[in-house]
Amino acid sequence: MSKLVTFAELKQHKTKDSIYILIHEKVYDVTKFIDEHPGGDEVILAEAARDATEAFEDVGHSDEARALLKDMLVGDFEKTDELKTKPASTSFSHNSTVNSAVQQGSNMMYFVPLAVLGAYFAWRYYSNGSL
Ligand code: HEM
Repeated sequence: MSKLVTFAELKQHKTKDSIYILIHEKVYDVTKFIDEHPGGDEVILAEAARDATEAFEDVGHSDEARALLKDMLVGDFEKTDELKTKPASTSFSHNSTVNSAVQQGSNMMYFVPLAVLGAYFAWRYYSNGSL
């Protein structure tokens, strides 16, 4: 079983001497890697001892980049209230709720005038027929 890294332990590794970052609920020791990082050391230092999942995914890292991670693995992160990890699905489901609400709103924008138009023609058709 892999080691569990606590929030307190993660927080102790945020200087250039020892840097841990959190990606997808796993903790990585990137101390040696930062000098080799093609994206520079500052970006990783900015995520030191934090949940870097979003930053890491936003860049669209290659499979090679992901393969490097496994050599730096320290262990699984022990989730606490102090630092909630952000699974991609949370923001996705939030966005999709918003999106469907927006879409429903814009569907109504078309539906209402069309229904009024339909009612108008129906009324004309029936009132002409009865004349
Ligand atoms: C331990 C974690 C990380 C590893 C192993 C890693 C690895 C790599 C690798 C191999 C590349 C070259 C392109 C590729 O293969 O995708 C790269 C590029 C890059 N990385 Fe990371 N990276 C890590 C974390 C981060 C973080 C936390 C950021 C924060 C924003 C970041 C930002 C970037 C940027 C901006 C580039 C593009 C550089 C360029 O093309 O000029 N990386 N990374």
